[in-house]
Amino acid sequence: MKFFVDTADIKEIKELNDLGLLDGVTTNPSLILKSGGKIAEVTKQICDIVEGPVSAEVTATEYSEMMKEAKVLAKIADNVCIKVPLTFDGLKACKAIRSEGRMVNVTLCFSANQALLAAKAGASFISPFIGRIDDIGIDGMELISEIRTIYDNYDFKTEILAASIRTVNHVKQAALIGADVVTVPPATLKALVKHPLTDKGLEQFLADWAKTGQKIG
Ligand code: G3P
Repeated sequence: MKFFVDTADIKEIKELNDLGLLDGVTTNPSLILKSGGKIAEVTKQICDIVEGPVSAEVTATEYSEMMKEAKVLAKIADNVCIKVPLTFDGLKACKAIRSEGRMVNVTLCFSANQALLAAKAGASFISPFIGRIDDIGIDGMELISEIRTIYDNYDFKTEILAASIRTVNHVKQAALIGADVVTVPPATLKALVKHPLTDKGLEQFLADWAKTGQKIG
């Protein structure tokens, strides 16, 4: 499973990339707002750090305007993946951008039928929003499961990018179901390494090691 980080925070991206954990980055207009920077500059900075796909989202809602924005975003770097919303205009833009050989991430997916349409439009990635489905009292993971089955039934190549990930458990469940990618906020990504028994065990080993009086090397 690929790990993307869901942020436009350059410091966090650098840190996680240095750990060798990043396969890509996703951003959206809310994350750009949070970064305080301009979309073109922030996206360029991210693309200079991370080799994998960096999703940058169009903000137009009409097809030809989306295409204009996609051209601007695509010029930033070769690894920019154009993010479009799951609307008919977005799907039309997806097909057109894909025919030019550029990666497309279709976002704001909340149903299996929407995911089916995105695959038909040739999307590189489909982004089902797990946390936001959980927020309305429905199990978001069920959607990942349904999309996995549908894509496997027809051998669609669109990668399932589990988004709106809020907990470490979401990451585990997405991996068990077979999502191709998870995009995770930095704090949740870092929390994956934590286990109290790891801390306790390490403490014990270090204490015993100190008693041996030895040194390695
Ligand atoms: O990238 C979009 C997605 O991950 C948003 O997450 O937490 O705002 O629902 P959230």
